Amino acid sequence: MSQQSSQGVSRRGFLKGSGAAVAASSVVSSTEAEAAAPGLQVVSGETSITMKVNGKSMAAKVEPRTTLLDVLRYQFDLTGAKPVSLGGSSGASTVLVGGKAVMASTTLALAVAGKEVTTCESLGGDAVPSAFVEHDAQQCGFCTPGFVVAVRAFLNKYPNATEEQIRAGLNGNICRCGTYANILQAVISLVKGN
Ligand code: FES
Repeated sequence: MSQQSSQGVSRRGFLKGSGAAVAASSVVSSTEAEAAAPGLQVVSGETSITMKVNGKSMAAKVEPRTTLLDVLRYQFDLTGAKPVSLGGSSGASTVLVGGKAVMASTTLALAVAGKEVTTCESLGGDAVPSAFVEHDAQQCGFCTPGFVVAVRAFLNKYPNATEEQIRAGLNGNICRCGTYANILQAVISLVKGN
């Protein structure tokens, strides 16, 4: 996939203000931080939170360091989002938080408390996975859930995207099997409605 788009919809730009912002707004546990910013919420130890996952309210116990990916996989048994790159560079842990694509592996669970989360498990009847199957857009499949969620978020925002925009919009997701050409064809078919 290309790295930049003249239309300014690069995948990394698309994620800016979503995953990164969610992490940046997370609570911290240092007393220095509390002293430096009176009123800042400081959390330590285990906290009970709820979030709406795929339309269902779910409760979790999390520490300040617990990621959204950990909660999804190990507390909610939703294993679609993958821990391929814990730093988020593969895009395999992509989920939607409040409709925005974020890397669950780099999003703290506390920052998602009370929010709406959509994972690939809820997209079974969506046109995106069907287009992936039709265009043979997967091999080993490790990257596929992240791509499917990323494509859904991208098309929600850019339903009439050009090929160049699609390439740029998905450049934060990596497929080590190299099925990019077929993924691109799958997304183009969705834009064209066929
Ligand atoms: S299908 Fe194997 S990494 Fe994408």
